[in-house]
Amino acid sequence: MLIPVAKATQSKVGMSALAMLMFVGLSSAGSTETQQEKFTNILSKADPAYGEYLAGQCVTCHAPTGAAQGIPHIHGLPDVYLVQTLLEYKTSTEGRTNPAMVNIAKNLSEEELGSLAKYFSEQNPTE
Ligand code: HEC
Repeated sequence: MLIPVAKATQSKVGMSALAMLMFVGLSSAGSTETQQEKFTNILSKADPAYGEYLAGQCVTCHAPTGAAQGIPHIHGLPDVYLVQTLLEYKTSTEGRTNPAMVNIAKNLSEEELGSLAKYFSEQNPTE
């Protein structure tokens, strides 16, 4: 009688140790998410209609007619590139320290900047 009980206990412990390992495995998989996966993930939640609404604050500087007065045009650029550059301004990394853009980007959530990226990527530059 004693032996089966001990066995049962052992296998229970074995199971939870396995569950722990799987949990640890899953969490570390999350932290090793590549940049590309992060951008794709942000873009999967993007809403271009919301992006269009938010874009009102961008087009005062970013005209669709090509670079002007040191302001690059952003209409029609790839969505992944736009997400990446906006995240860089948000964190002031990769030399993206322009104060105007840093101030704007740091107040954008990932959902907002993803939606903006999606919207602008779907626009045609007029030049
Ligand atoms: C006050 C003017 C201004 C406003 C408003 C503005 N930008 Fe910018 N933006 C700039 C300038 C200037 C640069 C170039 C900065 C630099 O040299 O890094 C830039 C650069 C960028 C770039 C990088 C382009 C590239 O190819 O390097 C992106 C993307 C961008 N802006 C997106 C946006 C979005 C989206 C908004 C609205 C939420 C916005 N900007 C609002 C002035 C502005």
